[in-house]
Amino acid sequence: MTRHFLRDDDLSPAELIEVLDLADAMKAEPFEHKPLTGPRTVALVFDRPTLRTQVSFSAGIAELGGHPMTVDGGLAAMGSREGVEDVARILGRQAAAVVWRTAHQHDLTTMAEYAGVPVLNALTDEFHPCQLLADLQTVREHKGRLAGVRVAFVGDGACNMGNSWVLAGASAGMHVVVGAPDGFSPDVDVLARARDIAQDTGGSVELTAEAVEAVKGADVLVTDSWVSMGREEESGERLRIFPPYAVTGDLLAHAEPDAIVMHCLPAYRGKEIAEDVIEGPRSVVWDEAENRRHAQKAVLTWLLERS
Ligand code: NVA
Repeated sequence: MTRHFLRDDDLSPAELIEVLDLADAMKAEPFEHKPLTGPRTVALVFDRPTLRTQVSFSAGIAELGGHPMTVDGGLAAMGSREGVEDVARILGRQAAAVVWRTAHQHDLTTMAEYAGVPVLNALTDEFHPCQLLADLQTVREHKGRLAGVRVAFVGDGACNMGNSWVLAGASAGMHVVVGAPDGFSPDVDVLARARDIAQDTGGSVELTAEAVEAVKGADVLVTDSWVSMGREEESGERLRIFPPYAVTGDLLAHAEPDAIVMHCLPAYRGKEIAEDVIEGPRSVVWDEAENRRHAQKAVLTWLLERS
């Protein structure tokens, strides 16, 4: 059976740890693992802006001995010139795996149904699971463990990163608190699924509308842009609603004294995160950005081995 990575819970809690262990091994010896020798090609398809995802997958696939083939989703005109079902079968005949950034999760699911090779989610409106692998690798590096670690996600809890944090955090046995205004909580079905997973892993997921409440006692403070891709026309309203959730030095003071601060980037300094926080000693955002490469190499290798 072909394995895919479309959302965070496509990996069981035990599989998640296997992938993170492999990511650590690949980080320690970046040129020792060559499952794409050939070179085998991996298709990287982008319908939306990208920087970290394109460069980290491209560099990582090269390190694995493979060839990254970037496909401009605009040029391919997927969904208008030809349907996802057809594109999937074209890509699956050329590439060992397909990595796709697009708006709708259901399109990604269709790609996975038809491609015949592993499909990886490089961000949709609903989930950003590759980022979460890098984030969990980063937390483990800085905190030495995942289970029992307290995470506060403050800001737009309804965005892809909010959904992915509750799912992946629960899988890792972490205690995740989302501090978000009413109407901006993670998806209800995703929350229910995360709470189910947490029952087995010893983790937990809580919601609050108070940023300070969310951050109290946190070991890890996470935020993301208040205006995700595709939400640009809501930016006026969002910039009025979200300022109480900004990650400033004052908010950080409510977390544990050794709390780390995370952001998947791009960051809007002075909006969701203060300049002195992102540039300060508690920020691990550059480690997160680097770990995209190691974590994605690991999950790609893991999926190919099991498919
Ligand atoms: N929530 C953000 C993540 C960017 C990597 C967005 O979707 O734009």
